[in-house]
Formats: sequence, C-alpha cells, structure tokens
Amino acid sequence: MRLDVLFGLATTAPAAVTGRVVAVIDVLRASTTIAAALANGARNVVPLESAEEVMTRARNFERSEVRLAGERKMLPIPGFDLGNSPLELTRDSVEGRTLLMTTTNGTAALAGIQGARDVVVASYVNFSAVSALLRTALRGGTAVTILCAGRDRLFSLEDAACAVRYARDLSVNVPEVELGDAANVCMMLEERYGDDLARLFAESEHGRALAEAGFEKDLELCATIDAFPVVPLYQDRQITALGPRLER
Ligand code: MLT
Repeated sequence: MRLDVLFGLATTAPAAVTGRVVAVIDVLRASTTIAAALANGARNVVPLESAEEVMTRARNFERSEVRLAGERKMLPIPGFDLGNSPLELTRDSVEGRTLLMTTTNGTAALAGIQGARDVVVASYVNFSAVSALLRTALRGGTAVTILCAGRDRLFSLEDAACAVRYARDLSVNVPEVELGDAANVCMMLEERYGDDLARLFAESEHGRALAEAGFEKDLELCATIDAFPVVPLYQDRQITALGPRLER
C-alpha cells in the first residue's frame, strides 16, 4: 500500500489525493493550534480562507457561541478574539464553542483538498493518535498521503521533518508500505534532526521568524509530542475530534 509525501498544494496531483486518507501538516502553527482547540473542548473548527469570510460566517452564530481566530504575518487579526498561538486555545477560551479560523497556509491547504476519502490534521502534538489512524488505513488497503502545507506554499523544513516522523512510524509498523520518492528523500532529515526539534525549529525559516516575533513558547509547545492526543477530522468544511464511537 502506497504512502506519499507532498510539499504544498502546488505539487498536489489529483491522483495523490483522490480516495486516499490525507494528513495535512502545518506544524508552525495551524495544525498544532487546531489540535489544541479540539483537545480543549472546542465543538468544532471551521477553516476559512479570509478574515472577511470569518466575519461574515460569525453573523450566523450567537456571539457567545463562536471564537474568531487566526493570523496574518503570524500576528492576531484586528477585531478577532484569538491569534494562532496554541497557548491561547485554552479550555476557558474555546470549550463548547465553534472556532472560525483563518491562517496563511494551514487553512488554505485544507480548503484546497478535493476528493480525499478522509482528511485529518497532523502535527507533533497529536502524533500517536493520528499515526494510529494512518496505520489502520494502510492495513485496510487505503493509500495515505501526507500533505505538508509549507510556508507561502513553498517547502518548509518543519513540515517535512514532521512528515518523516509519520513516514518512519508507518514504514516500521506496516512493513509492506511502499514509500514514494519524496517520502524516501525526507527520511534523510531524520538523520540530521532525529528528536532534536529545538534544533529543527532553530534552523527552519518559519521557526526563526516566530522566535524573532516573540513566540518562543509556542515553539516549545509545537515540539511537545502527544501534548494534544486528538484526531482532528476535516469533513463537510469543518474539523471535529474523531471520537471513540466514530473510529474507523
Ligand atoms: C499558517 O497557517 O500560515 C501558520 O500557522 C502561520 C503562523 O505561524 O501563525
């Protein structure tokens, strides 16, 4: 059964997505933030492409039912309740609420996927939970694609390195998995960084930019394996936590 890694939507051929289970990674920070929101009891997360769309959609809700979240150039959007820092997505701020969210890369990558069997949101903070789901898919005969959202639609080191962690786990636990060339090339990142995620973020462009903008604590949280053990499932334009009753 096939496992492919893709770098950004620009490199995404329909055949690498259609009918597959697709895991979307935007480690810094959208996929980490989405996992944090759902682990802290958000009812759902609705990824939207623009701040205007968020404002428009918010009119359909009672104000107390929604939180407006997201970033542009890493910073909170004026008039929104929350930025894109996973540290802000506490139980107090999100429990029982819908999060309307727009980010530069992560939400755009989700919105662009067409025809997948299932789409899940993956990062370091929900590694074991998502990996278990991907293993089940491969063992059941469904091909898997890991889509790295990247930065400004280009390759990003941290998403590729996170994809490697998934690919390595899947190739060890599902030995019959067939790795595409990109997945194989990514494996080389393993030798360089291993579990040293502090070094990975220090050497990545987006990691350095976040540190310079004062988000060092976010980097620590984004590197905490299994901090938010949820499987965020993107279906019908919203993301909900896959619960025990829904497991497939
Ligand atoms: C994005 O989706 O582009 C990122 O999550 C940006 C950020 O770090 O806030």
